[in-house]
Amino acid sequence: MKINLPFMISAILAVALVALAFTIFQISGERERLNNELEERNSLIARELNEIIIATPEVENSKSLIKFSDSLSHYSNFIGMALLTKGKQIFTFNEKIKPFLRFSNDYIEQSIIADSAFGKFIKIGKEEIYQYIKPVKKDRVPDSAMIIYFDAGYIDKILKSILLKNFFRWFIQVFLMLAATVLLIRWGIFKPINSIVNWLRAVRGGNTELLEEKSKIGFLEPLHREIRNIAQDMQEARAVAEEEARLRTMGEAIWTQDRLREEVRKLLPDKTLIVVSNREPYMHIHEGREIKCIVPASGMVTAMEPVLKACGGLWIASGSGDADFETVDKDGKIAVPPGEEKYILKRLRITKEEDEHFYLGFSNEGLWPLCHLTFTRPIFREIDWEYYKKVNQTFADAVLDEIKNLEQPFVLVQDFHFALLPGMIKNARPDVTVAIFWHIPWPNPEAFSICPWQKEILKGMLGSDLIGFHTQYQCNNFLETVNNAIDSRVKWDNFTVKISDRTTLVRSFPISIAFTLKDYDNHKYENTLLPGELLARYNLSAQYMGIGVERIDYTKGIAERFLAIEHFLNNNPEFIGRFTFVQLGAPSRMVIKSYSDTISRVESEAARINQKFKVKDWMPILLLVRHHSHEEIAPFYKAANFCMVTSLHDGMNLVAKEFVASRNNNDGVLILSRFAGASRELKGALKINPYDTVQMSEAIKLALEMPKKTQTHRMQQMRQQIVENNIYLWAARILRTMVSIQS
Ligand code: F6P
Repeated sequence: MKINLPFMISAILAVALVALAFTIFQISGERERLNNELEERNSLIARELNEIIIATPEVENSKSLIKFSDSLSHYSNFIGMALLTKGKQIFTFNEKIKPFLRFSNDYIEQSIIADSAFGKFIKIGKEEIYQYIKPVKKDRVPDSAMIIYFDAGYIDKILKSILLKNFFRWFIQVFLMLAATVLLIRWGIFKPINSIVNWLRAVRGGNTELLEEKSKIGFLEPLHREIRNIAQDMQEARAVAEEEARLRTMGEAIWTQDRLREEVRKLLPDKTLIVVSNREPYMHIHEGREIKCIVPASGMVTAMEPVLKACGGLWIASGSGDADFETVDKDGKIAVPPGEEKYILKRLRITKEEDEHFYLGFSNEGLWPLCHLTFTRPIFREIDWEYYKKVNQTFADAVLDEIKNLEQPFVLVQDFHFALLPGMIKNARPDVTVAIFWHIPWPNPEAFSICPWQKEILKGMLGSDLIGFHTQYQCNNFLETVNNAIDSRVKWDNFTVKISDRTTLVRSFPISIAFTLKDYDNHKYENTLLPGELLARYNLSAQYMGIGVERIDYTKGIAERFLAIEHFLNNNPEFIGRFTFVQLGAPSRMVIKSYSDTISRVESEAARINQKFKVKDWMPILLLVRHHSHEEIAPFYKAANFCMVTSLHDGMNLVAKEFVASRNNNDGVLILSRFAGASRELKGALKINPYDTVQMSEAIKLALEMPKKTQTHRMQQMRQQIVENNIYLWAARILRTMVSIQS
């Protein structure tokens, strides 16, 4: 900021006018005083002279007059005096005055006529002379007067010096005043205003955290507060406008069920999409005399179900519910979802032995720990491998039967249960476009190479035209494994594998959930309970709540998170009685020892920690071990202050995405393992290492104390990420890639 010229000129003129008025006043007063003083002095001299004249007989030759005249010479300005009668000089005390007398004649006459004394300034040449005339009271010299001359030039000199001094004083005053004003304005006004301007500029530039700051300059705090309020209002208005604009633009880009349906109609006209997985999307089970339909706890189901709902098609899966085959037709088919039938589910029967060796044995004791690096040793049994091949063939036969009348069909195989299926289908029907999506991680080549049948597995998978993983890192691991294990050409520039004349594309497709703009934009909070209200249903009282939702699996790091909760309460005893962690755990693969050990460990850790801390009406961990439906889980997601996903290793983890999607009021915190694929996308989460108890316990504290604004900022970012990369986009990308391969 600059101080402008008109301001400075006005200030100078104002001071000049005051100084001038003061000088005029001072000079006129001084002049009057000096004149009076001169007149008084002259009047005194005249009086004394008069008395001498009266007492002097011979005025013309009076020695006493001469003596008196001499005595006046101590007045530095005294020029001289004379005694005159009717214009005639009687006595001149000083020769110097002779030239002056002719200028005084008229005045002398006037004085004599008026018989009164008076003083008068006259200008003679350059000299300023003061003459004082007084009639003489002596009979002997009638009609006479005395005249005294003083040099009055000193009065002008004094006045000029006053003028000069005042000018300098004015000059210094103007200088000091301007300097003081400039400093005052610069330091007292411009600097604070500048700091507000800079603060406002930073806020405008997006540094919204500064809005919380108080003014550093006390007297400006009220102004700062008002501006802060305006800035906050504007910030909010801008955020709303930006959000609206963004939603408008996003609306055109975001994938929905309808958009995917349209896309599939275009991509696969008159074609049926065949999906194959082990786990089915709907299970029918007996509950008393009733048959109940449930959705199994499975990330794969969460992801694929909305795709099938959008595209229609056929989903072939193992029938694992005890009432499954009571509800299907003679071909093992049933239209689902119940009540809004959108696609066909074909259930295949798996025998007890098949389940034992294919599902529990090779898939879950072999491949599962092989791919998840959690230091659980994989078990490879030959009999399991035999059953794995057998069941893959059963499914291949079922697929081939379903597509026998279809030309160039599309088959999308799901997960590690069916590594051999693509090769089996492709060998029988080379015209089929086959893709396999691997829902779990792919380890490094050394880790994978311990599998005795790694070559067969890789070759089976490479029967696909397309192999999908969640992340590029997993794609790279897979390509390196292929490169190390089998005769093939791995091309790193376009991520393909060529064996003979067959090419397989290896691509990353981060899986997601059915979260659309409608869900994103739904800010209704109804049915949202506070943590205390939800916990009261379990006769617990606590103000804060954390949530964990998963199958009880050693890869999920559930016991590890309990240890972090214990550490957190040890270090933050103020939360004892105020914070409860709810763990919803679906029992899974229970006959496998590593799983039964896991559930025992989870239960015993929860019991130990609860025993250690519990007080009346409160315990730190509420462990609910049973299958929970989506509807049952939703209130926990919504009420919790934070959700913990602490997988030791995980392909993606859709619980993390589901929790974020459920937070339609944009609050809550996600604590997320950096070993879950989701951590590469959900940047707003608090990333943790699940092996680091201290770090996890600190993340809990951070989550519980995180300011609402920060929560909103992080949550909005994650919700946006999910809505922009939802499951419909995932499916569209896979199908487009499959179509591009076929053509
Ligand atoms: O998310 C990985 C996954 O293997 C799914 O593919 C599977 O459905 C899920 O875990 C649950 O496992 P299961 O089907 O063995 O219960």
